[in-house]
Amino acid sequence: MTKGMNILAATCAFVGMACAALAQDLHSNLPKPILASEFPEADIDLIVLGWDLFFDPILSGNRNIACATCHHPSLGTSDGMSLSIGEGGYGLGPARRPVAGNMPKARIPRNAPALYNLGAAEFTVMFHDGRVEKDANAPFGIKMPDGLALERPMPSVLAAQTILPILSADEMAGHGDENPISIAVAAENHRGPDGAWQQLADRVATIPAYRQRFTKVNGRDAPLHITDIGRALAAFIAYEFRATDSAFDRFLSGNTRALDPLQKQGMSLFYGKANCATCHAGPFQTDHSFHAIGLPQFGPGKAHSDNPAHDLGRGGLTDHGADSYRFRTPSLRNIAYTAPYGHDGAFQTLEAILRHHLDPIGMIGTYDRSQASLHDLDSAKDWAILDSPEDVIEIAAGVEIEPVALSETEISALIAFLNALSDVENAKGRLKVPSALPSNLPLDPVPDTPKRP
Ligand code: HEC
Ligand code: HEC
Repeated sequence: MTKGMNILAATCAFVGMACAALAQDLHSNLPKPILASEFPEADIDLIVLGWDLFFDPILSGNRNIACATCHHPSLGTSDGMSLSIGEGGYGLGPARRPVAGNMPKARIPRNAPALYNLGAAEFTVMFHDGRVEKDANAPFGIKMPDGLALERPMPSVLAAQTILPILSADEMAGHGDENPISIAVAAENHRGPDGAWQQLADRVATIPAYRQRFTKVNGRDAPLHITDIGRALAAFIAYEFRATDSAFDRFLSGNTRALDPLQKQGMSLFYGKANCATCHAGPFQTDHSFHAIGLPQFGPGKAHSDNPAHDLGRGGLTDHGADSYRFRTPSLRNIAYTAPYGHDGAFQTLEAILRHHLDPIGMIGTYDRSQASLHDLDSAKDWAILDSPEDVIEIAAGVEIEPVALSETEISALIAFLNALSDVENAKGRLKVPSALPSNLPLDPVPDTPKRP
């Protein structure tokens, strides 16, 4: 008997469902165990460089925000908020506040995604709308946003992605004439010898501890380039944030007792009757593709039409009507730690996003706005879309998910399964938060009791 059949036999015995149906569901859909070879080989010097850079505000124009501010290990590699406030705020997650005299101009229009497993080879599409992706026709094989083509090769789409947040005025660069980086960004002077990318690389190179370590990993003392910084950040993210040792992984590797009966029932629903795996497919529970599931839309939006509050997701990128309101299927690894959920963080709990999936059209009209966790920031336009019945109807019209009727027990079982996707040991990373930074800039203040779902 094969290992797979052993698992099935044990599952049937536990759950007591109709075994033939269960066997068929599970057999065709259950993914294979994740292999360590999915991830890049570790270059520890490069990883440790990326570790410091990830937490170091040196990469922001005003030296006041780091990658970790929005992707903090204590908050599931995100920030626990529906929409972040970036440059100009102080503090972490729910405790973050706008700073008088340097007020953030706007919220960030989308939820900061978790960074787990992004180093695995199958992740070739980045961002909620996939605006960075593997593409053989693009320079160095990676499609970047307009005007931001790569200047040198990068080892992965993840590495290419990491050099973009630093060019965003609201996220990291700062505004107007606040600093040399924000000036270059405002003038759309990103690339080339005097662009924002090179200015940031030069800034990092003035710190001897960074310069010396880059010389060591590069094997030569050449001027630092932004792709060196991106390689280090990506090596760190790929090493640090993995979620591949969950109860579900242990079950897939043959330990039939790794899941309890309710989790097994949830698994068979996920890979069977509840249709979750049609989109949340494969070992990371994502098809890396785009679907419209009608999430309630709020926040400043992406100006994808005359209405600045519109966020058409993939449609804003491709201009195909059929892509309107489609967003990338998120991986569900460590999902218990990464609330709130959806591209704008519309739902605070797994139960709420799950119930939305079961009846998206019915749910969008009755969305309870108190579920949005938003920092106090003057933002009259936050609810422009939900206040407009035409826009709500348009979002609902795009929904491509088939409603599924599930009992309350089945809903509990699915949630139990989603909780079995947690890699409890590694959720906060492996190297954790550094104790000090080469730039001597301060680290984000970590609250004693970070908000958890
Ligand atoms: C102000 C908050 C903020 C900061 C600072 C920030 N990010 Fe993000 N990050 C986001 C948001 C929001 C998105 C999603 C944007 C979108 O999809 O349109 C994102 C997306 C990403 C993604 C893509 C994840 C995926 O699943 O596609 C990666 C990787 C990432 N950020 C890494 C970084 C790195 C590295 C830095 C520092 C150089 C950084 N971020 C700084 C908020 C932030
Ligand atoms: C038609 C494709 C599709 C199906 C079927 C589907 N999902 Fe999703 N799911 C998505 C997309 C797309 C998103 C992100 C939507 C957005 O950000 O606007 C999502 C988001 C989620 C999230 C939130 C993830 C996060 O990081 O914010 C969870 C949890 C989830 N789905 C669970 C499920 C479960 C459980 C099922 C089965 C009952 C299911 N999904 C069925 C496409 C699908």
